[in-house]
Amino acid sequence: VSAADPTIGVFDSGFGGLTVLRALIARAPQARYAFIGDTARLPYGSKSSRTIARYAAQSARFLVEEQGAEYLVIACNTASALALDAIKEAVPSSVSVIGVIEPGAEAAHRASKTRDVLVIGTDATVQSHAYTAACRARGLRVLEMACPLLVPLVEEGWNSHPVTTDVLRIYLDKLSKEASAQGLKPDTLVLGCTHYPLLRPLIEQIIPSEMKIIDSAESTADKLMFHLCHDLPAPRKPTPDDLFLRCFATDSVEKFERLGSRFLGRPTGKIELVDLGG
Ligand code: DGL
Repeated sequence: VSAADPTIGVFDSGFGGLTVLRALIARAPQARYAFIGDTARLPYGSKSSRTIARYAAQSARFLVEEQGAEYLVIACNTASALALDAIKEAVPSSVSVIGVIEPGAEAAHRASKTRDVLVIGTDATVQSHAYTAACRARGLRVLEMACPLLVPLVEEGWNSHPVTTDVLRIYLDKLSKEASAQGLKPDTLVLGCTHYPLLRPLIEQIIPSEMKIIDSAESTADKLMFHLCHDLPAPRKPTPDDLFLRCFATDSVEKFERLGSRFLGRPTGKIELVDLGG
């Protein structure tokens, strides 16, 4: 990593966004990364848009003003759906801000043959209908469903727990029945929350095998690479030790250190506690 490498700030309400960071590191290991999980105020998914916008703007400013981020990846569907404009306003216009909704909808558009897609996410994401708007703009029919119990289960590390399987089965059965009742023939399921990729193995056991799963972490990372291609020097085959990554959390540092590596697919290193104020 050299001073010329771009700094990419990645933000989520918790650890879920580490799945996006993982996809980014796989594509651009030579960049400098700063990640913040606003664990003190998680979950965002049950809060109002005003509160989510205020919290998200504070994290965005921290990444830009204190960590020097030139790119911001909003690795949280809830904040992307409800606070993208507030985040853009909170940072200088020279900072590129990328959310996860548009890349997710774009990937669903590429994947679906029936043009009918299902989306699961937090209450706030679903109520915002951001996915419905983004999918409809691409000619897709969409059915969204909130699955509020999933984020706490993932944050608890219950990624393969029988209780989580039962909860998922209840949500996905309901979604599938509702889709049939509406005459939809969905062939694509969008994981509209950055915590859900951790549940992918369980989800794959429940849904029909021909159903495609969209993990917006992958499509978001691809989109950032498109923005970065001018700024990014060629990779110098970095070793894992060469990775420049600082991880911050607003609370639960110990839990973050314990569980974060599962999301990131590598050790997170030391998590630094940060106080973003009110
Ligand atoms: N990871 C966030 C998302 O993608 C949800 C977690 C929360 O509710 O704070 O929507």
